[in-house]
Amino acid sequence: MRTPVIAGNWKMYLGQTEEALGFVRGIRQPLNEVDGVERVLCPPFTVLATVAEVLQATRIEVGAQTMHWEDQGAHTGEVSPRMLQDLCKYVIIGHSERRAAEANAETDAAVNKKVRAALAHGLIPILCVGENLAQNEAGQTEDFVGGQVRAALEGLGADEVRTCVIAYEPIWAIGTGKAATPADANRVMGVVVRGAVSQQFGEEAAQAARILYGGSVNVENIAGFMSMPEIDGALVGGASLKPDFVELVRRAAATRG
Ligand code: 13P
Repeated sequence: MRTPVIAGNWKMYLGQTEEALGFVRGIRQPLNEVDGVERVLCPPFTVLATVAEVLQATRIEVGAQTMHWEDQGAHTGEVSPRMLQDLCKYVIIGHSERRAAEANAETDAAVNKKVRAALAHGLIPILCVGENLAQNEAGQTEDFVGGQVRAALEGLGADEVRTCVIAYEPIWAIGTGKAATPADANRVMGVVVRGAVSQQFGEEAAQAARILYGGSVNVENIAGFMSMPEIDGALVGGASLKPDFVELVRRAAATRG
């Protein structure tokens, strides 16, 4: 009943017009033909409009990688929800690479404002949560991730939360080639993430919200994740930059179908 989502987070890659166009034109048709799973490409801002334009006549959706919470203002370098609302359907919020102190130091409070602003503008947030290695090894995963979910969704209504996408991305699994096991990811996503949503907003909203796994997902391991009941798709980094992203999406659809 929950339509799976496979979202490709390009991060700071493929941001030049010609390389982005070349890549998207190459995968557009076969990616468009896959049924049963929503596909989302999240390119850098420099090519967001260009990618959105070449995907216009397709069923492939576009997402941004971040945004500010205000509509406009003196915020040098920022992009607002109003600027994005006609350009894309999704927006990644609170990625661990932006929460990191040495990067953008995004706090739970800022993430909450962004989630609210996205929903208020008709954008679907892909809210990222996940523990680091030290927290994982110290047995703090449940408390930390549960806290991130509660803080990010604070003040929302159940009718809003049910439309959200939440990505569980353990930081130690991102870009390391060391993915979580499907069983471990499924447990955190069900017990901790969906559990926190259920506690705060009720079981109906918790069952409707889509929860993705992210962290070293590739064409070989996607089927294992998709066969788990709590895993509604994946947020894919490195493997979304290669043509076999299409095969990854096909396998995701085949596992669910
Ligand atoms: P990788 O798939 O490269 O590990 O990245 C995951 C991620 O951070 C997606 O947002």
